Amino acid sequence: MKVANWNSFLLLLTLGFKVQQILGTDAAPPTVAVIGCGPSGMSLLHAIATKRKQGIKNLPQVVVYEKHDSCGGVWRSDRHTKKQSASSKTQEGTCLASANSNSTKDECTPEIKTTAMYEGLWINSHKDAMEFMDYTFQEHYNNVPQPVFLPRQQVLEYIMKRVTIHEDIFQYVRFETAVNYVSFDEEEKKFEITSTDINGEVNVEMYDKCVWAVGINGKPFKPKEVLEALKNYQGIIVHSSEIDALFGSVSTETKAENAVKGKRMLFIGDAYSAEDLALQCIKMGVEIIYISSRRSKGVASEMGSWPGDKVEMIYYSQVKGVGNDESGKTITFKSLNDDYPSNDIENIDFVVLCTGFEANLDMLADHLQPEEVDDNDYWKLEDFGIDTNEWQMRDNTYVREIGHVTPSVQLGYYNKKQYWSWSAFRNLILIDNPNMFFLHETSEEFPLLSIDINAWEILAYIMNEKTIPSKEDIWKQNELKMLGLMHEVTYRVDMDDNFIASYNSLPNSSSLYHANSKEYTQLMREYAVFETDSIIESMHAGNYLGIGSLFGEKGNLSSMGLQFSEMVVHSLLFRPLLQYEKEEQKLWKTFRDYDSKFFKSYVTGMESVPLKGRWLDLDDKGNPIPTE
Ligand SMILES: Cc1cc2nc3c(=O)[nH]c(=O)nc-3n(C[C@H](O)[C@H](O)[C@H](O)COP(=O)(O)OP(=O)(O)OC[C@H]3O[C@@H](n4cnc5c(N)ncnc54)[C@H](O)[C@@H]3O)c2cc1C
Ligand SMILES: *[C@@H]1O[C@H](CO)[C@@H](O)[C@H](O)[C@H]1NC(C)=O
Ligand SMILES: *[C@@H]1O[C@H](CO)[C@@H](O)[C@H](O)[C@H]1NC(C)=O
Ligand SMILES: *[C@@H]1O[C@H](CO)[C@@H](O)[C@H](O)[C@H]1NC(C)=O
Repeated sequence: MKVANWNSFLLLLTLGFKVQQILGTDAAPPTVAVIGCGPSGMSLLHAIATKRKQGIKNLPQVVVYEKHDSCGGVWRSDRHTKKQSASSKTQEGTCLASANSNSTKDECTPEIKTTAMYEGLWINSHKDAMEFMDYTFQEHYNNVPQPVFLPRQQVLEYIMKRVTIHEDIFQYVRFETAVNYVSFDEEEKKFEITSTDINGEVNVEMYDKCVWAVGINGKPFKPKEVLEALKNYQGIIVHSSEIDALFGSVSTETKAENAVKGKRMLFIGDAYSAEDLALQCIKMGVEIIYISSRRSKGVASEMGSWPGDKVEMIYYSQVKGVGNDESGKTITFKSLNDDYPSNDIENIDFVVLCTGFEANLDMLADHLQPEEVDDNDYWKLEDFGIDTNEWQMRDNTYVREIGHVTPSVQLGYYNKKQYWSWSAFRNLILIDNPNMFFLHETSEEFPLLSIDINAWEILAYIMNEKTIPSKEDIWKQNELKMLGLMHEVTYRVDMDDNFIASYNSLPNSSSLYHANSKEYTQLMREYAVFETDSIIESMHAGNYLGIGSLFGEKGNLSSMGLQFSEMVVHSLLFRPLLQYEKEEQKLWKTFRDYDSKFFKSYVTGMESVPLKGRWLDLDDKGNPIPTE
């Protein structure tokens, strides 16, 4: 099976190569400016290198601008040694916290503020969702099976090794050069890219195409209203991306001596950063963490149990202000749901803003920016000629259990992830200027893989292997996509108030309320299949890796596609299932301690192995922390 896959892969590579040669034209290849060399920029360079290896001619001439001195984006590891770089001069603000008495000044350089990840980050979903078929984990780790979850450093090493298997892609990268401004010259039909290098030298260059690859998580988001509410707070406030200022890396020393040990913390926001940092802080010996969430929909809210009960959720709450006792460390809340009253919380030493990140579009001229959707924007089924009262959700586990729910007339946009839908084609190409591309993750369940697939698709448009449809067709496709999301529970629950109300009032007798029921698993399976299905079109569009779809066809996943999506199901179960653990397991168990037997490579079939110990007892490299 393994061998057959691999052989057909090679065969297809050769075939792709022949067809391409016949079709090759003599027109001069386009020049392309890529902004950013994180996984997105690297995926594009690797896609080009792979095509070159396949003998394909007329490849675009690419220059990648990267403001740091190394690639890797949020997975980068030079953050502790790096000093000022070209761009950081333009970044606002100073370091908020230097709580650890011995933290060096370096930890507070602007560099940290511009890095979206902290030293001790681990992946928050299974590694088998970020495996690349052309460079497998089995190859990377010399046949040694690995655990389901990897520390940040290992992910960086894996993606770096993979993108350099064909050629030195870094020859196309201009390091320590930040792009400050991009505009489009209508007469010349070219992009004008203004950049500043480490020596402060400003350059203006012209290109045929531009790829924004700056990261949708590039800029820490700090809500003004929260900062305003906390203006009299006497403790320390940091954004999740600045947490290193509190404890650096989880090595033996910092675990013994760090700023959060024995402290009381408040996290604002309940998404991945809150979850990940809460577990980190528990590892570091925090006394208690309160997590305040307005919508209570994030992964932290789904967590079935926290090690040692160290986390207390404050559901449906919003920070109101600081209590007027002398300490200046009492936080007050406003309850957003009558069923969930919230009390004041005293003696909060640190507040961590787990309020997420934004895409940084600042360097793009207005005419090149995709339109963003804000919280007040809505759409209606009627916009597409559908009667709200007649619309029916497709048959699925929810409908079978609960019945039909009439949608709200005004529908929101899913989690802003769709925010470029209306002004971009497939979230990747600006409709008004189809030479402007946006390369980023389009799946929450397998970000890195989706970036790689999108890179091939964008390259296909850049090389004219694929034509961009008419505006009319694009609108039609965008419309179908929005309507499609309404049929999937996970998306609809974020878009439709009536449905949210139905979901939130599931009777506890319903099996959908219980993560250990067959029905709950089936609901997750429907979502996982939907997600897997939704990248197949992109794999075809870009002829991914010279193969096309790895996972079969839309609505008809191949066995590889099914295996891939089944692992996504398990990755969705490991958080809520923790609630059914026995009390003594609940003292230490995290979602990363989930049974590894459900995860194996979709390419090679290599199985995962358990971690080298309980996750709470492992350092940043995944090795057991020696006991003092
Ligand atoms: C806390 C956190 C946890 C995550 N966990 C996971 C996970 O477990 N699994 C997963 O698959 N994904 C995860 N992600 C998603 C992550 O966004 C992607 O994995 C990936 O890093 C996105 O790659 P990117 O290249 O698009 O953006 P980035 O990684 O942000 O890279 C952007 C690059 O652009 C450069 N740049 C920025 N501005 C400029 C400029 N003006 N000029 C020149 N260069 C510039 C930056 O220096 C950087 O190198 C996580 C993200 C965050 C923030
Ligand atoms: C800080 O460093 C100094 C000298 O390196 C050392 O003597 C001291 O114990 C350290 N303090 C803490 C809190 O780690
Ligand atoms: C279900 O809800 C009812 C009423 O809210 C409550 O009395 C009961 O204890 C709940 N049962 C379970 C198993 O949670
Ligand atoms: C599904 O795909 C398989 C090949 O993977 C094919 O044999 C089968 O006919 C397809 N089924 C449908 C309904 O298209």
